[in-house]
Amino acid sequence: MKSKMNIPLVDLKTNYLTIKDEIDTAIQNVIDNTSFIMGEPLKKFEKNYAEFCKCKKAIGCSSGTTAVHLALLAASLKKGDEVITVPNTFIATTECISYVGGKIQFADVKTDTRLINIDELEKKITSKTKALIIVHLFGQMPDMKKIKEIAEKHDLFLIEDAAQAHAAEWNGHQPGYYGDIACFSFFPAKNLGCFGDGGAVVTNNEEIGENLKLLVNHGRSTKYEHLIEGYNYRLDAIQAAILDAKLPHLDKWTELRRKHAEFYNKNLSEKVVVPFEDKNAKHVYYMYVIASKKRDELMKFLKQNGVSCGIHYPIPLHLQPAYKKLGWKNGSFPVSEKLSKEILSIPIYPELTDDQKNYIVEKIKEFT
Ligand SMILES: Cc1ncc(COP(=O)(O)O)c(C=O)c1O
Repeated sequence: MKSKMNIPLVDLKTNYLTIKDEIDTAIQNVIDNTSFIMGEPLKKFEKNYAEFCKCKKAIGCSSGTTAVHLALLAASLKKGDEVITVPNTFIATTECISYVGGKIQFADVKTDTRLINIDELEKKITSKTKALIIVHLFGQMPDMKKIKEIAEKHDLFLIEDAAQAHAAEWNGHQPGYYGDIACFSFFPAKNLGCFGDGGAVVTNNEEIGENLKLLVNHGRSTKYEHLIEGYNYRLDAIQAAILDAKLPHLDKWTELRRKHAEFYNKNLSEKVVVPFEDKNAKHVYYMYVIASKKRDELMKFLKQNGVSCGIHYPIPLHLQPAYKKLGWKNGSFPVSEKLSKEILSIPIYPELTDDQKNYIVEKIKEFT
């Protein structure tokens, strides 16, 4: 019998060590220049990230949450305007709707992709709907071409919450191509993560881009001239420099994630439900999420055997205490509710070794 291994859900230390010199140099340069706010590192990263996403503009900001807030500010909602999104996402998506006085509306997701059910989305559109936030959960995009057509037909502002989907594609296009704005998180564990909080918005609309650039930095045109009231939502220079050092490695890391997912798919598909990847999508596997009717027992067994796992997310947003006042009930969004009871995220990160993968597969097989 093989000895017990301890495998984390994500391994940020190992990732850092693969490019330690590049990161340490980038950080030291910022310290040597003592230019910690705005400045060259941010400009350089914004230019490179826009190029990477094939978008006209990228604007760094302080987190994925502030990215979604900025996108909703760009949507210019009036109090009570409705914004449709999904219940199986992180609360940041909906918190931002509330920040701008919008009304949260949900459309349920599909069982296979776990992404928005487009037929249901269309049915939820009313005369009050003004924007959509499409969440590219776990690293996969839904049919954004169809969603863009719907948004155009109903004159809706289209936001992509791509916090989990750096380098993902639909029909060969990354987040930012179909939407008016795409929002990214650079939280440390994300596919492109910094060493603290960070985020970015990308857009092909120059006017929106210029406006967001003002909003993230107190509406400043010069040091003490403020064209509008804005926010302190800037991305720190140190974080920008770290992200710029990591960016050239992102394609390679994405391919490794996809390779690990292929291995899991091949070895686990007869034991548990494995993620469904649409043929038009490039899934970047921020999370590798299986499903099982015996999820809780499986998770306990894996943890006992040293395999970390997680549930993303155990309580759908419509059933969160924070939204009790909005009146949704058990049964309001049955697919999201069922998924929340069956899904399990197992370790996936670029540096996952063959021994680790084999061990995880072996343990899942042993359980089932
Ligand atoms: C789908 C989604 N949206 C928004 C966010 C918010 O990003 P951040 O944690 O960087 O504020 C997250 C973070 O996990 C997320 O997963």
